Amino acid sequence: MDSKKFYITTSIPYASRKPHIGNTYEIILTDAIARFKKMQNFDVCFCTGADEHGQKIEELAKKSGVSPAKYSAEISNIIKNIWELMDCSYDVFIKTTDVNHVEAVQQIFKKLYNNGDIYKGAYEGWYCVACESFWTNSQVGEGRCPECQREVQKTKEEAYFLKVDRYTDRLIQHINENKNFIVPNFYAEEIMNNFLKPGLQDFCISRSSFSWGVKIDFDPEYVVYVWLDALINYITALGFNLNTPSEKFNRFWPADLHVVGKDILRFHAIIWPIILMMLGLPLPKQILVHQWLLYKSGKMSKTTGNVVYADDLSRFFSVDAIRFYVLKAMPMSHDGSISYESIISTCNTDLANNIGNLTKRVCDMIYKYCDGVIPNSEYVKDEYDVGGVTLGAFKKYCECMEGYDLSEAIMQILNLARYCNKYVDETMPWALAKDENSKSALNRILYNLAEAIRFISTMLFPIAPSTAKNILKQVGAENFSFESLNSFGGLQPGVAIKKPEVLFSRIDASKKLEEIYNFNS
Ligand code: MSP
Repeated sequence: MDSKKFYITTSIPYASRKPHIGNTYEIILTDAIARFKKMQNFDVCFCTGADEHGQKIEELAKKSGVSPAKYSAEISNIIKNIWELMDCSYDVFIKTTDVNHVEAVQQIFKKLYNNGDIYKGAYEGWYCVACESFWTNSQVGEGRCPECQREVQKTKEEAYFLKVDRYTDRLIQHINENKNFIVPNFYAEEIMNNFLKPGLQDFCISRSSFSWGVKIDFDPEYVVYVWLDALINYITALGFNLNTPSEKFNRFWPADLHVVGKDILRFHAIIWPIILMMLGLPLPKQILVHQWLLYKSGKMSKTTGNVVYADDLSRFFSVDAIRFYVLKAMPMSHDGSISYESIISTCNTDLANNIGNLTKRVCDMIYKYCDGVIPNSEYVKDEYDVGGVTLGAFKKYCECMEGYDLSEAIMQILNLARYCNKYVDETMPWALAKDENSKSALNRILYNLAEAIRFISTMLFPIAPSTAKNILKQVGAENFSFESLNSFGGLQPGVAIKKPEVLFSRIDASKKLEEIYNFNS
């Protein structure tokens, strides 16, 4: 294959409960990056899935009176359906109960045990069921998990450990030498200062107090700790197996980008690279750490009743509006927030009044003044320099997308649309249309606007795919490609445009909030 490959993954959410919009943000973000890379002609492999094992799932299944296998399979289906509803174009959906995955986890465990990278010892400490994490005495202030603040359980038992000391120096060196291994970079410092520099403890990777997990086949009283099991998904999703080579694995590993939330970075930046070193496999090229989406300013939680789900949102807003909203709402450096009021405001301000209004008014004028076909016009640079501004916006957009700052990339699209709206207001094509002598100026302005709209729709494609397609059709074009944005003027004159439609109608905020309120109560 001649095109460059790009292997991108999401974390695999626990199949314990239906994922909320925060978990769903991650797949939307990853999907937008994957689509962007495809448009840059990368041969993309995009994997996601569900983390089906662990004590929490076993307990929830018991409460529901079903087997953990049935319980987790049902939730995995729900996860998959939400991912599909959100128009996420993944290639592989892996489940940690998949036979190939289970077999590979067992093989890997045995191999590392035989190599001396895993040993059996005694474990004494604290365990947080919710986070499936072990903590030491010093880490649990007043019996609470340092991660989620829930109560932890005292645990003492024989267990298997990952012997990390042999690999710590290499990992420190790797992080120091690869400045973009973890982005945003301040997270690399956090990993270094909070975990690596103080020294790592050997990592407990087995449990015996419950059974819903991958059995350690040579010691079947134990199951593999859920995090070790889950991390291995990144290679088994490509068909990795120690016995049989997988073409897909050879083609796509190492991962180009693991997308993870900030709370699970330490597993991805420490444990996962160490496991890969132990296996003699190359490390992922980059880990993108995203922030959290909060409801207003608080953490979404079942107990406070402020959990927002993507499928519920889709009753009130289009899928593309949800995608657009969450990607815009989440900056790279701090948490983002979601509220129904701000979704409505984004729909009205950015989609209806800015992008939608621009497309509708320009297409209406082309319909009215140019017989519904793209007018013929050479690009002449005038005081507005729409061509230069559009090319500049595309360049900045690409820089933002390459740096995975999607919120900023969206701002570039919105700025361009705003500029074009201003261009319409100031050049007043409707006034020019009254004067036969201004025909060439009118054609030039409408051509520039239609061409800028083509750029806007192409840039919007990774973020809001169906909407972008509709906008592109409005200006009579069909195919998206970044190559076609190398110069301004690609739109074919003489091509009939689609009859202008309202792409986004304005939402009546109080009516919509009432509908949502009635649904939620
Ligand atoms: N199963 C593990 C991941 C294993 S990957 C080898 C897990 N699952 S999770 O369901 O708890 O979280 C899945 C992802 O959702 C994580 O990246 C987590 O950071 C992310 N989020 C959880 N709550 C979130 C928000 N409120 N906002 C954004 N992302 C959030 O951890």
